[in-house]
Amino acid sequence: MKSLLTLFLVFDFLTSGTHVMIEVWGKPNSLKNAKNLGNITWNSCMMACHGSEVCIIAHLRSQACYLYNEVAMGTVNRTKPQNMVVAFKANATNANGECFDVEPIEISGAIFHYKNTSENPKWIHYTISLSGNQWKVVYRLKTISISMKSELSVSSRDVVKNVKSIGQLATFGPRSNDRDKRRIYKNNYSCSDGTWAVFRSDSSIACYTKLYAVQGPGDFNYTYSKTGCEQQSGSPLAGLHYKEDMSYMNSLVEALKPVKGLDSFYSRIDGIRTTACQKTPTTEYCMSVKGFNFVGQPVKSFDSYNWVTNSSSREKSGYDCLVLVSDKKKPLRVDVKSCTKNSPLTVQLVFCSKPAFT
Ligand SMILES: *[C@@H]1O[C@H](CO)[C@@H](O)[C@H](O)[C@H]1NC(C)=O
Ligand SMILES: *[C@@H]1O[C@H](CO)[C@@H](O)[C@H](O)[C@H]1NC(C)=O
Ligand SMILES: *[C@@H]1O[C@H](CO)[C@@H](O)[C@H](O)[C@H]1NC(C)=O
Ligand SMILES: *[C@@H]1O[C@H](CO)[C@@H](O)[C@H](O)[C@H]1NC(C)=O
Ligand SMILES: *[C@@H]1O[C@H](CO)[C@@H](O)[C@H](O)[C@H]1NC(C)=O
Ligand SMILES: *[C@@H]1O[C@H](CO)[C@@H](O)[C@H](O)[C@H]1NC(C)=O
Ligand SMILES: *[C@@H]1O[C@H](CO)[C@@H](O)[C@H](O)[C@H]1NC(C)=O
Repeated sequence: MKSLLTLFLVFDFLTSGTHVMIEVWGKPNSLKNAKNLGNITWNSCMMACHGSEVCIIAHLRSQACYLYNEVAMGTVNRTKPQNMVVAFKANATNANGECFDVEPIEISGAIFHYKNTSENPKWIHYTISLSGNQWKVVYRLKTISISMKSELSVSSRDVVKNVKSIGQLATFGPRSNDRDKRRIYKNNYSCSDGTWAVFRSDSSIACYTKLYAVQGPGDFNYTYSKTGCEQQSGSPLAGLHYKEDMSYMNSLVEALKPVKGLDSFYSRIDGIRTTACQKTPTTEYCMSVKGFNFVGQPVKSFDSYNWVTNSSSREKSGYDCLVLVSDKKKPLRVDVKSCTKNSPLTVQLVFCSKPAFT
């Protein structure tokens, strides 16, 4: 019963999202104070904004992703369809309907800043509105006084609420090709609500969900993670198949680091060494994908895997499960670690995915 309870607590914040990203054609008038995340996909760019406490717009230009806070945003000119794209973060009440048929002229939202205990937490309420051909933002700050104990207890719940928003990402279907329809917003879903669509190079779409605990590492052993994925979204653990999967996972890991205040941890993905190969992990057969069982779509090859060492790694008995290793500033790598223990790093994140419906 205890484990079931924990399971639901974990899932609760994943299903009650507070923000969505709304795409419009537009061009910010300055890149100067934007945060440049470099060459990542548009989906990952929107997701990074969604996952960031401080971002309110994402923008893609010359294959680089730019994120803006309320101060950096300045003005955004509306552009022709298919010209340049921005996505505004909005609180979820802005997007009650599944799609927008008319252009929203006002998008509002609130972001919560609570960096550390020596700084007063504050809300930033903003409204982005279209006037003539330009989007502008107005915002106001609402600081919560640390000295007011009752307010603070409210704000600590709000911190959790803010973390919740990262669990919920709006889902975007493929863009409309209809050039006359001058706007695209939340398009038709290819992935169900509450999941994130990753578009791969072969045109397949995977719908991702994830598990993480609001506090602490969570007891994300292999079995619990597998069951958790199934219960939450009917998805198996996510396999690492394409570089787009890796890029998505990487951006989520990056988004989680500041939330958790950690730069080193594991994320669980699909793949557990077969019982037979636990005895002979170093044979060519056992080092190949044949040496592992996958609960989702079987992984075809480890060719693109960035291993810490290689797939034969088995430092200790029971180190048979694939994990992504986030280790300080090093790029995300794959290793074979304990299926049951948080060891030596803790498991903070679990990826689940299934193919989109088309
Ligand atoms: C961005 O990444 C893509 C895919 O990895 C690559 O084809 C492209 O050349 C890169 N663009 C730039 C400007 O680095
Ligand atoms: C944006 O629109 C304003 C007003 O229409 C115009 O003055 C300005 O030149 C535009 N900026 C860009 C970068 O196109
Ligand atoms: C959405 O944002 C507006 C403007 O800040 C606010 O008035 C409204 O209460 C917000 N809705 C929710 C559900 O947070
Ligand atoms: C906490 O906030 C204060 C006030 O803004 C700042 O001076 C300090 O560097 C912050 N500490 C950390 C660890 O971020
Ligand atoms: C979205 O796609 C589903 C399934 O293909 C279809 O039944 C539905 O009518 C579509 N909705 C819109 C708004 O296009
Ligand atoms: C695999 O990595 C181990 C270290 O973990 C190393 O000793 C071994 O030589 C490597 N095997 C291959 C085939 O690269
Ligand atoms: C996995 O975690 C769950 C939930 O905490 C626990 O009930 C179960 O006993 C664990 N299984 C193993 C093999 O450690």
